[in-house]
Amino acid sequence: IDYQLFSHEIIQWYRANPRDLPWRGTLDPYQIWLSEIILQQTRVAQGLPYYYKFVNAFPSVRDLALASEEEVLRLWQGLGYYSRARNLHACARFVWHELDGKFPNTYEKLLLLKGVGSYTAAAIASFAFGEVKAVVDGNVFRVLARYFGIETDIATGKAKKEFEALANRLIPVDQPAEFNQAMMDFGARLCTPKNPDCPSCPLQQSCFAYQQGMVKDLPVKINK
Ligand code: ADE
Repeated sequence: IDYQLFSHEIIQWYRANPRDLPWRGTLDPYQIWLSEIILQQTRVAQGLPYYYKFVNAFPSVRDLALASEEEVLRLWQGLGYYSRARNLHACARFVWHELDGKFPNTYEKLLLLKGVGSYTAAAIASFAFGEVKAVVDGNVFRVLARYFGIETDIATGKAKKEFEALANRLIPVDQPAEFNQAMMDFGARLCTPKNPDCPSCPLQQSCFAYQQGMVKDLPVKINK
């Protein structure tokens, strides 16, 4: 298996098809964290206006930490999953009061923040600090399952480990952020759950699922 071909083509595709998203223009871990929390259970189109509202109202972790919970929840109205907003505020206060206002700067330290799981920690660590840590979510499961022909049930812990190991082997050490952004966009826009755009795919010729006529069958998800 040519791992380098996959990573190279995904990044080339991303460079030719960039989405101009505001959090991609910053290296500020606070603003990147804000975007990732908003996007956890929310689509980009729905999350965008909230991201703008929050960075305008609270441009720094200090501003968010010193705001009232009432104000934070008011701005969050309409987004749902309000525990995200409460964690957001609690984290900002923690960083401001306990960490001297310095945002955690490694994957392991980011994981200690409330509401930050492995996906969000990998996103922040790679985008803000260039750490070589692959993001793994439903999009990544789908792209890798199809391309590499992985038939492990994605609802299992075994799958999470397997896909994480593969993604961390694919992520190039010299462009971790680009690779992670590319995987997010590739899964969201081209290698979609329904009607993936295989004719436009630069990886079509070497894709296991495409070659085997199994695009509709991968990833495997066994409902329990
Ligand atoms: N979904 C989660 N994080 C994202 C990001 N940084 N860009 C686009 N979609 C995302």
